[in-house]
Amino acid sequence: MIENKMKDLVKQINKAAYEYHTLDQPSITDQEYDRLIQLLEQYEKDYPEYIQNDSPLKRVGGTILEGFEKANHKVPMLSLSNVFNEEEVVNFVTRIKKDIDHLELVCELKIDGLAMSLTYENGMLVRAATRGDGVTGEDVTTNIKTIKTIPLKLSKPIDIEVRGEVYMSKSAFDKLNIDKKKNGEQIFANPRNAAAGSVRQLDSKITAKRELDFIAYSLINNEDLSINNHYDAMMFLEELGFKVNPKIILIRSEKELIEHINKIIPIRDSLNYEIDGIVIKVNKFSEQQKLGFTEKTPRWATAFKFPAEEVSTKLLDIVFTVGRTGQITPNAVLEPVRVSGSLVSRATLHNEDNVIKKDIRINDMVLIRKAGDVIPEVIRSIKEKRDINSKEFKMITNCPVCDSVLIKKEVAYFCVNPDCDAKNIEKLSHFVSRDAMNIEGLGERIIEDFYNLGYLKTIPDIYSLINHKEELKNLEGFGNKSIENLMFEIDKSKNQSFEKLLFGLGIPQIGKKTAKTLAKYFNNIDSIMEAKYEELVEIRDVGPIIAKNIIEYFEDQNNVATINILKKIGINMQLETNSADNKLEDLTFVITGKLSKYSRDEATKIIEDNGGKVSGSVSSKTDYLLLGEDGGSKKVAAEKLGIKIINENDFEKMVK
Ligand code: IVH
Repeated sequence: MIENKMKDLVKQINKAAYEYHTLDQPSITDQEYDRLIQLLEQYEKDYPEYIQNDSPLKRVGGTILEGFEKANHKVPMLSLSNVFNEEEVVNFVTRIKKDIDHLELVCELKIDGLAMSLTYENGMLVRAATRGDGVTGEDVTTNIKTIKTIPLKLSKPIDIEVRGEVYMSKSAFDKLNIDKKKNGEQIFANPRNAAAGSVRQLDSKITAKRELDFIAYSLINNEDLSINNHYDAMMFLEELGFKVNPKIILIRSEKELIEHINKIIPIRDSLNYEIDGIVIKVNKFSEQQKLGFTEKTPRWATAFKFPAEEVSTKLLDIVFTVGRTGQITPNAVLEPVRVSGSLVSRATLHNEDNVIKKDIRINDMVLIRKAGDVIPEVIRSIKEKRDINSKEFKMITNCPVCDSVLIKKEVAYFCVNPDCDAKNIEKLSHFVSRDAMNIEGLGERIIEDFYNLGYLKTIPDIYSLINHKEELKNLEGFGNKSIENLMFEIDKSKNQSFEKLLFGLGIPQIGKKTAKTLAKYFNNIDSIMEAKYEELVEIRDVGPIIAKNIIEYFEDQNNVATINILKKIGINMQLETNSADNKLEDLTFVITGKLSKYSRDEATKIIEDNGGKVSGSVSSKTDYLLLGEDGGSKKVAAEKLGIKIINENDFEKMVK
């Protein structure tokens, strides 16, 4: 029968591809492989009704998307805490030892790519989603299906969620950039950007051409599979057809752990993929549950980050940028060099005093590194190599963008022109950023474009973009869907929490934490606006400088006008009350088993809408376990820890 023949052919090709890409042990020649592919192509053309769901020909990419759909994570995708040296590693081990009987850890390499969640139903890949903000990512299934080391069909017909890292090998990255250069296109700064950029292509045929790879590092619904530790989960994933971390190792003592780390550091550069550290995880799931989570990271795992690389290069020039508050920062323009995985051509020099104190000059050879592995900075100049062309640094006196005279406050210079373009763009970017109003789809470059086109000058203009919807849809690089999504995001942000709005206003030196404190203390914007210096300065986290900044901010009539317009638009400017919506405030729930009245997503939404939190595993921090049918190990864990177990009826009573 033709159908069976096609099934066999798919199986044969998938096996060969798995041996080639995942195991790195090819069993047939390239010619033989191509012959099988051609044969399958012919069959699929002649008998499209028999095309198999896991056909390798589905990996070539499909229709062009207008944008990505949102994808919610049932279990939030968290990040890892970091440790930077031996002492911090030891502290981590000491801390976890308090809660567990025998130390049993797993170490893996921390591959530098992007996190991906893969959902399989009945053994078939049904969804691939990016991490996004950890709760909601983007559905990138079509693109992910092009990655050859991601099985479209597992060796068992089970329902699982697998997470891991999508990355690009160093050799694939170099090849891609050579091609890009040849075509006069802009090159990628590092393999991580290249991988992320490839995953976010609207045309999956482009993704298919990029050589992406995937390594699995976690199995989410382990409880349903009676696997009780991480190492076994990884071996199980290997059996299912995934590539797992090649250097995965079980560790049973602190000494072994340190030895392992010291063994990996020198081989870092010889690997064909970028790694930025070593992930250390508690092996047993029961112990992971016991240790639980902080708000953003598991307590049962951490990442040892490699020491920041220090590299020398030539400082070609010093240029100045204007921040949101008007603060001027001197930046070094460098001869491009690779530092900790990316090409660096700019680095911060912080402020005038720093440059003068360190006597850093144009044309000097300088030492640079990435502070906290993110922002490149100049550490010092290598004076032994200074030549006669070195030019002494001179601070500017006027704003590089609007030319107004700069004012010095303490160590920094400021542009105080309220209408400076650079400041306006930075203010807008800050307002929409993730920790502020979190308006997705309004990145810095788009803001700059909209600003220069005259659609966006001030914060309230964001909410008038809807009046230009049709024009925006016609702009190059935008489409119906992306603009519709943007409008939706903008509208949604009107209900953003008060603390995030407050942070977004960009009052100098008010960070996320202070914004939260102020929001809780004053409840609404009017009370903050009326507050006196004496009252402000008394509040925890608010010192004299911040108090003064708040007073000055609200004395400025432009800011008051902005707030009044935002109020009229309907932006939320008060703390959600404790009444209707916050019945579950500060309570953490874990949901397990099958619920009859809601899906897990729906129950999660109800809890979050009522101010509660949902966590993926039971720990001492859990307040309630919402138990559906067949809740297994989580029920046992909750009973052990004496956590309240409720059913759907109890839950309904709580939120009604
Ligand atoms: S475990 C709850 N294991 O590092 C912790 N992460 O900051 C889940 N990463 O977003 C992560 N290699 O993208 C884990 N072997 C590994 C990893 C790994 C790379 C990335 C991952 C995550 C980030 C954590």
